[in-house]
Parts: sequence; C-alpha cells; structure tokens
Amino acid sequence: MLVNKKSYKSIWLDEADDTVVKVIDQQKLPFSFEIEDLKTVDDVCSVIQNMTIRGAPLLGAAAAFGMYLSTLELSSHSNVKDHLANAARYLVSTRPTAVNLSMAVKYMFDKISNENDLAKLTEKARSAALSFCENEIENCRNIGVNGLKIIESIRERKAGSTVNILTHCNAGWLACVDYGTVTAPIYLAAEKGYDIHVWVDETRPRNQGARLTTWELGQNNIPHTLISDNTGGHLMQHGMVDIVLVGCDRATIKGDVANKIGTYLKAVAAFDNNIPFYSVLPSTSIDFKISDGLREIAIEERDEEEVLFVNGLTDEGIKNVRICPEGTKAANYGFDVTPARLITGLITEEGICRADEVEIRRMFSGKI
Ligand code: MRU
Repeated sequence: MLVNKKSYKSIWLDEADDTVVKVIDQQKLPFSFEIEDLKTVDDVCSVIQNMTIRGAPLLGAAAAFGMYLSTLELSSHSNVKDHLANAARYLVSTRPTAVNLSMAVKYMFDKISNENDLAKLTEKARSAALSFCENEIENCRNIGVNGLKIIESIRERKAGSTVNILTHCNAGWLACVDYGTVTAPIYLAAEKGYDIHVWVDETRPRNQGARLTTWELGQNNIPHTLISDNTGGHLMQHGMVDIVLVGCDRATIKGDVANKIGTYLKAVAAFDNNIPFYSVLPSTSIDFKISDGLREIAIEERDEEEVLFVNGLTDEGIKNVRICPEGTKAANYGFDVTPARLITGLITEEGICRADEVEIRRMFSGKI
C-alpha cells in the first residue's frame, strides 16, 4: 500500500542482497518511517518480541523468512535437522497467541525438509518464504472482494448514504503483508467511490489503532475518526455504526476468535445493538485442531509497563509517559476470545461463512 504515494509491503527481501529481509519499524510509526534489516533468525525473533513487527499474518510471513535466514547459517558441519528444528522452536515461541507463526513454520518444513543439498535447501527455503508471502497477499486480495459484498449490501440498504465501519487494533496492511484483512474491503469500497467512514478504536495499551490504523487510512485517503476504546458502545446505541470488522490471531474450528484485547467487549455491544460483527481472517489464522477458544487459546500476558505508561511523541522525541502513581500494579492481557455465538460471520479468502464448525469445515475442506 501507499506511504507518501510510494508502494510498500510490510516485509520484503532486499533487491540488492537477498540474504537480507526488510521490515518497517512499527514501533516508530506514525512519527517516523524507518526500515530495519534482518539477517539472522535471531534478528527475526527479536523484532517480533520487541513489537517492531506485529499482526498475525505478518508474524507468519516473518517466521517463513526466519526459516529461510536460518538456512543461511548452515555449514557442511551442521546437523541440518537440529538446526532447523531449533530455529522453528524459537520462532514459534516468540508470541503465543497468533497461530500464524506455527502455520508458517509447518509450511516451510513441508517445502524444505526433504532436501539434503545445502545450496538447494537455501534456494527452496527462499522461494517457499516468498510464496508464503505471496499467498498471504492473495488471501487479503480475495478477502477484500468477499468483504466488499457485505459493505455493498449495507450501502444499498442505506440508499448510498455513509457506511460506518468500526474496527479495533490494526488489521491493515502493516499487520499482513499487503492490503490488510479488515482494510482490504474498505480500500475496494473507496476505489469504487462509495461513501464510507471508519471509526478507529485507539486500542490501549499499545495504541495500534491510534498509531497504525489511522496512519494507514490517512495515507490512503480513507475518511476515519479516532475514538477512545470506550466509545464504541455509545456509537452503536445511537445508530452510528453499521458494521464491526475486526482481525483475528487464532480462530477455532467452531468459530471462536482470539483478537486484540477489547475485541470481546465490542462484540458484546454489537450483539446487544443488533449490529453485524465480522472477524476478517485468512485461513492461516485458523487453528483447525482446537475447538474451545476460551480453554485452548493461550493468551499472551505482556509487560505491565505498557499499561503504566503511554508511549508517544514529545518535544524530546518518542518517549514513555507515566499515567498512574508510582508503585501501581498493572495487568496486561494482550488478547481476548470472542465466542462464536457473538460473531455474525467470518470473512475469509474462500468466502463468507457463519462462525460454526459445519460451515468452517465446508469452506476449508481442502485445507484441513
Ligand atoms: O499485538 P498485536 O498488535 O500483534 O495484535 C494484532 C491484532 O490483534 C490484530 O487484530 C490481528 O493480528 C489481526 S491482523 C490482520
């Protein structure tokens, strides 16, 4: 997507040196646009852990490139199997909730594990990582086409007046490789000249909505308004939200969805106000092996500093500012689970389905 009118992806291979992976530093946005070079699997793991990159599909893409970079570290003396298994374990351990990390690592193993020749192994890993990313881009493109139909039906019902979409966190191109999941149908709607407007939740504690979604939408001229996290329910009660679109870090076969903390509260409010609530996700975010989201999805607990401080731009640069008395304790759960019964449907690359096992199995019969 566009940054200052130039097209970018959120991760790519350096054109001049394909042993280097490039990512946009999302910790600095929207105040500074900086690109970081990754040369080792350790580099990939640390940018995931320190949140330079985030968002479930991008984590998967980074893990795929991490596996490729790990093959560059092999020598004729290496135990290839152990080396790759260690790299895979490290990558998957970086963040527990998004299933995309283990999906990507499995994809890479399936493509490369039978190769014994080191040069061929590296070449296979490079091309597998690139295809994994291309596939995620294609997924988002198709999600856009499928999601657009829902926006169009709301637009028809409203006789062409503004379609108001509420979103939480950042499920845009930064979180994917291109287009985004939630944002893909929004961009298509804008291209068609439809009158749309996006309510963007700030998404405390890390403010991915305030910092990233607003920035993405602004760069692509999509009308939007930032709201505090507690505002959505009020807007819904007053007819100011037509649809809620959120991302997904891990969905179960029964359609429960783990997404950024606060998603569940939006779903409850949407349900109470009879407003359609969709999770927008590629199949790489579905954990087909699990069924009960509340019991089976590991919820990441993050550093309390993220709650005790707010990070933002000051006269002295990007800084943390304390927002509570010294000594206050904080709890910082990164994600919550929205049960399938509160979800109107899932918008995926294969089409739109209800959040239930029969429909999910039918839709993804070729991928389970
Ligand atoms: O902690 P983050 O910023 O990685 O959380 C991201 C989200 O919750 C997104 O909504 C999710 O990954 C979907 S991205 C298409």
